[in-house]
Amino acid sequence: MSDCLPIIAIDGPAGAGKSTVTKLVAARLGLLFLDTGAMYRAIAWLVLEANLALDDELKIAGLVSQAKILLTGAQVVVNGVDVTEAIRTPEVTSKVSAIAALGVVRAELVKQQQAIGAMGGIVAEGRDMCTHVFPDAQVKIFLTASAAERARRRQQDMRERGQGEVDLAELEQSIAKRDLIDSTREISPLKKADDAVEIISDNLTIDEVVDRIVKMYQQVSIQ
Ligand code: DC
Repeated sequence: MSDCLPIIAIDGPAGAGKSTVTKLVAARLGLLFLDTGAMYRAIAWLVLEANLALDDELKIAGLVSQAKILLTGAQVVVNGVDVTEAIRTPEVTSKVSAIAALGVVRAELVKQQQAIGAMGGIVAEGRDMCTHVFPDAQVKIFLTASAAERARRRQQDMRERGQGEVDLAELEQSIAKRDLIDSTREISPLKKADDAVEIISDNLTIDEVVDRIVKMYQQVSIQ
């Protein structure tokens, strides 16, 4: 028997609504919210700042081992620099999958994520939460939606962030490209864990998705 609080692990492709849902679930249940994509984005930002080649594993390894990433609510700070906005630019977004495919990057970040989740009581979202980082999580979700719906949501998202008007077809293409890299990479590719519950969010409201996950957590908490 463990004294740890339960963990909710949520995986899924880009734009499936993971961040929004995860934040709301964490707030409803009073759990810590762990956005692991933000950690990969912070490293991608550092790699771009340092002008390193995306496949220079040796130099990137040095950079990752020195990187101090702090996640406080929605704020992301790396090596003392607030990168909350900077990690969401199209430039970082287009490079992050290549960085996240590197073994040295994953090894270090997974270690940090498992340390954060060691006491439980977190909702963690990413691509390999259920399959690799928290395989014993009490609630495992694979949250997905069609590529067209995800592109539409991303467009709306960028509009709200003041990042301008991006062509829908272009967005769908870039989402599909990122999905392909994330799900075909050698180390911990994006895939539904056998024991994860799949939620397809195309025809569900955010509240409906949050309710389903909160109910699943409440069920495991009273067992
Ligand atoms: O969820 P996101 O779009 O912020 O994730 C950014 C990138 O990081 C995405 O292309 C895949 C990668 N990622 C990953 O490989 N493993 C995770 N646990 C989280 C994100």
